[in-house]
Formats: sequence, structure tokens, C-alpha cells
Amino acid sequence: MVIKELLKIGRDTIKDTEYTNGLNESRQILSFLLKVDNSYLYAYSDEEVSEKIAEEFIEMAQKRSEGYPLQYLLGSVEFMGLEYQTSENVLIPRTDTEFLVERIISENKSEIDFDILEIGVGSGIISLTLGNEFKDSKVTGVDISDYALKLANKNKENLKIDNVRFIKSNLYENVVDKYDIIVSNPPYIPSDDIDGLQVEVAVHEPRIALDGGNDGLDFYREIIVNSTSYLKKKGKLYFEIGYNQGEDIKKLLIDNGFREVEIIIDFAGNDRVVRGEL
Ligand SMILES: C[S@@+](CC[C@H](N)C(=O)[O-])C[C@H]1O[C@@H](n2cnc3c(N)ncnc32)[C@H](O)[C@@H]1O
Repeated sequence: MVIKELLKIGRDTIKDTEYTNGLNESRQILSFLLKVDNSYLYAYSDEEVSEKIAEEFIEMAQKRSEGYPLQYLLGSVEFMGLEYQTSENVLIPRTDTEFLVERIISENKSEIDFDILEIGVGSGIISLTLGNEFKDSKVTGVDISDYALKLANKNKENLKIDNVRFIKSNLYENVVDKYDIIVSNPPYIPSDDIDGLQVEVAVHEPRIALDGGNDGLDFYREIIVNSTSYLKKKGKLYFEIGYNQGEDIKKLLIDNGFREVEIIIDFAGNDRVVRGEL
């Protein structure tokens, strides 16, 4: 079968829905399998594809049509210009999180040697981007999930970022030092909302990375209340938050003695980041 025929099968299998684009995703899958870039598929659309690749392609398109995330199929995503591996049981990096990391970078000068703590590292995107940006700093990232820690360490090795270490910890349980910056993108979806999310998230992404308790705020409460023991004087706390959680988290921060508390709205007009300092 030739490239353009396979892409047509992929398009008709994956289809266009609220969350899929049949042709675009077929192109990404076939480029991945053939190890070529997208432009090759246009230039050589009449080229014959081996039977093995064609079978793999159809199998992947079928899996995608059943809601399996494209990022797990392809095994990698880009986050702020760096390539990260993905794996099942670990949250897929979101572009929303770039907004949080960009804010931390723009508010803090990269030549200063900060001690940074991240709670809930997942694939390691936040810790590794900050480690790469703040090269004189030391970043400690914790997660309760062995899957996440394994993937974060793999990404650290691939990207050769040495000033970041990942340790297993239930929130602050194994954290001993004090930090200039604590950052977290914790699970923040209210428990009852999870089953109503798109199948890619509700079925295929790990609940431990999503479930923020009854009102979605459980992790913010825990992290904020205990943060004063782990932040240095004038230390800063940064959170990624859900689209409507800004005011609640702002209040939690103020009630716990934080100053300069600010809700930062993203390009889509949603609450996205809250920051405060001691
Ligand atoms: C929303 S994900 C964020 C992952 C990553 N930082 C990112 O932005 O893509 C939340 C992470 O918190 C971790 N987590 C959940 N409960 C935790 C706990 N009690 N202690 C530490 N980490 C936890 C999950 O395993 C998951 O990796």
C-alpha cells in the first residue's frame, strides 16, 4: 500500500471528533513509524510502505480511534523546546504548564543559585526545565508514583540535566531542606468530575495525577499549610491551578501568611497560576 492510501485509511479510522483530527494524527503516526518528517509524506505520497509498517499503522490508528492518547502512542512530546518521553501511568505534559514555568523563569533571575522543590513531578517537565534554565540552582523533585519517578529519571538522563534529583515522597514526607521556591502542578480535578472527562484522560491517564479530592483543592491545602516549614524567608510558592480555582487558593495562601498573592490568567482567559511569597 502507498503512503496516501494508508493516510486515507488512518483518517477514516481515527475520524474528526471534538478531540481528534483524523488526517493530522495519521500523518504524525506514519511519520513516527517511517522515521521521516511530515514533509516527506507529501513529497513521496505514492511511495510503497512495507506490509509490516502498514499493519503497525493500522493497529495504532485503531487504538487511537478508541481514545488511546496520541502522546502515549508516539512515546514523546515537546515541552518548552525540549523532547520528553511519555509513558502510560504518568500524566502527559500539557502546554498549559508552560505558562507556569514561564512565569517562574520571568520572575526570577537565572544567574542566582536557587534551591527549588517541585511536588508531583510526573514526567519531570517542570523540574528539568527549571534545572536547565537555572543552571547554578539545585532542583529536588518528589513524586509518590514509581512510574513517574522512573520516567522523570529517564528524561533527566536523556536531557543530561545534572542539577536535578528526583526522590520518592508523599508530599513533604521525605523532604528535609528549606527552599527558595516551591512549585507544584498537583492533582486538581474534583473527584466526581473525572469520569466526565474525555476518554483519553478519564480512562488512560493515571487517577493519582488527576484526583484532587471532593472540591479539587486537597493538595493545595496540604502543600500550603505545611509549606512554611520548607520555605526559606521570602521564599515563593507557585501553583498551576484549575480554570476556576484562583480565588479559593488565593484565600488559602493569604490565610497562611503569604504576601504578594496573585492569580495569573492564561491566554484563554482562565485562572492558571497562583503565586505568593512569605
Ligand atoms: C497533575 S500531575 C503533574 C505532573 C507534572 N508535574 C506535570 O506538570 O506534567 C500530579 C503529580 O502528582 C503526583 N502525586 C499525587 N499524589 C502525590 C503525593 N501524595 N505526593 C507526591 N506526589 C503526588 C502524581 O503522581 C503526579 O505525577
